[in-house]
Amino acid sequence: MRVLDVKHILCIGAGYVGGPTMAMIANKCPDYQVTVVDINAERIAAWKSDSLPIFEPGLDKLVASTLGKNLHFSTDVNANIAKADIIFVSVNTPTKTFGRGAGKAADLQYWEKTARQILAHATSDTIVVEKSTLPVRTAAAMERILHSGKSEIHFEVLSNPEFLAEGTAVEDLTNPDRVLVGGPETPTGQKALDALVEIYAHWVPQDRILRTNVWSSELSKLAANAFLAQRVSSINSLSALCEETEADIREVSRAIGSDSRIGPKFLHASVGFGGSCFKKDILNLVYLCESYGLHDVAAYWEQVVRMNNYQQSRFVAKMIASMFNTVAGKRILVLGFAFKANTGDTRESPAIQVCRELTAERATLVVSDPKAIPNAKNDLPDLTDVTYEEDPYKAAEDCHAVAVMTEWPCYEKLDYQRIFDSMSKPAFIFDGRGRLDHQALFEIGFNVYPIGRPPLSHLD
Ligand code: UDX
Ligand code: UDX
Repeated sequence: MRVLDVKHILCIGAGYVGGPTMAMIANKCPDYQVTVVDINAERIAAWKSDSLPIFEPGLDKLVASTLGKNLHFSTDVNANIAKADIIFVSVNTPTKTFGRGAGKAADLQYWEKTARQILAHATSDTIVVEKSTLPVRTAAAMERILHSGKSEIHFEVLSNPEFLAEGTAVEDLTNPDRVLVGGPETPTGQKALDALVEIYAHWVPQDRILRTNVWSSELSKLAANAFLAQRVSSINSLSALCEETEADIREVSRAIGSDSRIGPKFLHASVGFGGSCFKKDILNLVYLCESYGLHDVAAYWEQVVRMNNYQQSRFVAKMIASMFNTVAGKRILVLGFAFKANTGDTRESPAIQVCRELTAERATLVVSDPKAIPNAKNDLPDLTDVTYEEDPYKAAEDCHAVAVMTEWPCYEKLDYQRIFDSMSKPAFIFDGRGRLDHQALFEIGFNVYPIGRPPLSHLD
């Protein structure tokens, strides 16, 4: 196998993971040619233009630094498979919507199609790297497909899950906590792993590159996301209790997080976690446990997702109860729609559920977001009582309430007096992210409803 002179890298799938990861590899490894392919021609054209298909701080500069030099984007999947020595597969693995495991299991049809395409078009020994998050033991299935032909070509399937978080992707890729690479414990498997490690070793210190077997690597990705989501659900569960008592979730978070065994991160109470990974990966884990008959383990993890749904519904219930038990006919500003700040991504954003529940109560919504309005429109195509306005001041006019859905830093600097003055009275603000100055808002005249803290109301 000619794995030690890998020079042509291919990535199949030019999404939130494939695009930024390959741009970083191209930037750090000038001795490699990196090509990213996708079946979506519009996406590929956007990667080559001044207006990238995704918003990520610092990504435009990173792409521009190597585009056309050693970073290429193309729709010609087959020709590029033929040239590649190492292929990262970063196609989407959504939750299955049909058949067995619907709603929980991963839909592996794109993955399998991609494996067959690699088999059909590879011209020499090739390393195939799972970059998409996949159920444990998927690599084994891929290996079987890749070796199902008569060809003499040898494939090694490795797992290399991506841990970047959106909004900080460039930073996370530049300085990762760890890079996880899993490979078969065979001589050729270990050689392939060496070739993969060699790429990352261009900028990641060796002690941060963790080598495991394939299954540990696959499971660790699901487990890491499950643990992170579990922390958010745990703090959110306590936020409900805080609202019933005189405890303050910010103080509780600080007190818990100061324990060095626990640590302060991912203890920020919110309207709920969103994003393409947390829910999907936990449900994958749940399905995996169920399929091995581990029902108690499955139920344990499923509760993390249930708590997240509860938190979103609880937020809407609080809005309705506080606004005199009806929002029908009331205009509500949805401030932020992205699932977190610094991204235009809205996949699984809590704003989707909140908007749906509010319109079911016959509220009229104005959605505002600096980057996510195009995606928001795609998420709510059926809702007629929703308008979109990027300018938060215009969006707030005549609204009865503001629901803060995303912690965009620019929202902390808004002129809330101006917003208050243009709104219907009494004016309410429901802070689903807990980043605003609640006392200052109260002093302006707002009735303020934070998560996990007592409300500041002029109405009592
Ligand atoms: C994806 C997976 O969803 C996630 O589980 C994994 O961890 C990383 O890869 P993301 O990059 O966010 O995450 O997905 P997305 O932005 O949807 O990108 C996937 C791309 O693959 C899309 O551009 C899609 O057009 C492309 N694709 C899909 C192909 O090129 N070929 C296919 O057969 C299917
Ligand atoms: C996550 C993982 O962090 C990353 O390692 C993995 O590769 C992909 O999934 P991402 O979904 O992009 O990344 O963002 P993340 O920062 O983890 O936030 C997920 C959600 O949790 C967001 O909606 C965020 O607002 C929410 N969150 C996070 C909280 O509500 N409270 C917190 O304390 C932290």
